[in-house]
Amino acid sequence: MEIITTVPELQERIMNWEKAGKTIGFVPTMGYLHEGHLSLVRGARRGNDIAAVSIFVNPKQFGPAEDYNVYPRDFNRDAALLEKEGVDLIFYPSVNDMYPAGYKTYVKVEDLENKLCGSSRPGHFRGVCTVVLKLFNLIRPDEAYFGWKDAQQVIILKKMVEDLNLPIKIRPMPLIREKDGLALSSRNIYLNQQERKAALVLYRSLELVESLIKDGERRAAKIRQQMIDLISAEPLTRIDYVEIVDFQTLDPLEAIEGDALVALAVYLGRTRLIDNLRFISGVIEK
Ligand code: PAJ
Repeated sequence: MEIITTVPELQERIMNWEKAGKTIGFVPTMGYLHEGHLSLVRGARRGNDIAAVSIFVNPKQFGPAEDYNVYPRDFNRDAALLEKEGVDLIFYPSVNDMYPAGYKTYVKVEDLENKLCGSSRPGHFRGVCTVVLKLFNLIRPDEAYFGWKDAQQVIILKKMVEDLNLPIKIRPMPLIREKDGLALSSRNIYLNQQERKAALVLYRSLELVESLIKDGERRAAKIRQQMIDLISAEPLTRIDYVEIVDFQTLDPLEAIEGDALVALAVYLGRTRLIDNLRFISGVIEK
């Protein structure tokens, strides 16, 4: 496994692989890896000659009052995990390598980037799209792997790839959970014991959706209200949003019928967690 930290070294390495006709599967991450990340890595490993992973806590996708400075980092642990997975390359650049002084170019996917997480985190998806496009240009992967944990991110990046004619296949992968249902996230480490317990209400609210649907309820307003009631009954939570939206446009739906996304963001103390449930043709995707 190679660890490359500078852009020119990376470009040379990638060019050599391309010359040798190797396919490249790529997994962008911000590090502090868990089984969710590793499931993407395994996908990239299985589907390609070369598996490449980037580890970069991207300052451009954090708001000024957000957790950029305290975001968990442990490169040595991450590198050991990736070595075990048979990864060929870790790209681990510095902020200055990615955004040298005078950096000015940004990518925006209009309309989609202001909804859901974008409305409470202005500029977040502009930062995500910018860094992912830069990483795509540097690594030139055949396939890039992303988790459904961040459903809006997947939807926006698919649109970016389509609109900009990038020759890259986006491969979305299932959301990985703890045994008790909590979605794996690097941010779970911020939770204290009480918050960790209370955080289960996110998953429980999605289970509630599942059971309401089973009982024949399809009306979004009814389902949404029951989710809100359940989450609010847990005193340690503060709801950022609970939305039921169209899968393509991210606009609110009246009923869960075609392709729908049930998405939520909830604060546990100062920690903001997200989770979601996807429906394709009215059926839950697992
Ligand atoms: P990060 O939060 O490190 O996540 C990297 C990838 O792992 C994303 O595609 C994310 O959806 C996926 N992932 C995280 N938790 C997961 C889980 N429980 N199950 C399945 N997949 C999971 O997302 C980012 O970094 C950044 O925005 C990035 C795309 C790297 C751009 O900076």
